[in-house]
Amino acid sequence: MLTDQTIATVKATAPILEQHGELLTRHFYKRMFEKNPEVGPLFNRTNQEKGSQQKALAAAICAYAANIDNLEVLGGAVELIAQKHASLQIQPEHYPIVGENLLASIREVLGERRD
Ligand code: HEM
Repeated sequence: MLTDQTIATVKATAPILEQHGELLTRHFYKRMFEKNPEVGPLFNRTNQEKGSQQKALAAAICAYAANIDNLEVLGGAVELIAQKHASLQIQPEHYPIVGENLLASIREVLGERRD
């Protein structure tokens, strides 16, 4: 269970993520492909170059942050994302790689930003 404090912190980041989400996810993919080149071949290069992958991840993170106290509304979207990842052969050991690079990117890009 998330504490009230954690929920309040995550909700407070939602507007910042909305404003800077793509800056964050562009940095995230660059960082992850440098630090964990083993996951590079899983991704479609064209979608990276078009920026659609960065947009999709930014939108997913924003939706999660904004609805952290009401996650049921995300049920359908989360199910679709889960099915897509299962069909792409994403394995459990890939998730900590994304988690670590994403948290580090939030620190590096958003830092103490309050706007
Ligand atoms: C909580 C964690 C994650 C979230 C919220 C997330 C979110 C997303 C979203 C929203 C999409 C686009 C789905 C669509 O176009 O229908 C996507 C696609 C994808 N994700 Fe994730 N993802 C997560 C974890 C991972 C992990 C761990 C990997 C593997 C390292 C991964 C690899 C991919 C790939 C390969 C695609 C397809 C992109 C492409 O090449 O076009 N994701 N993800």
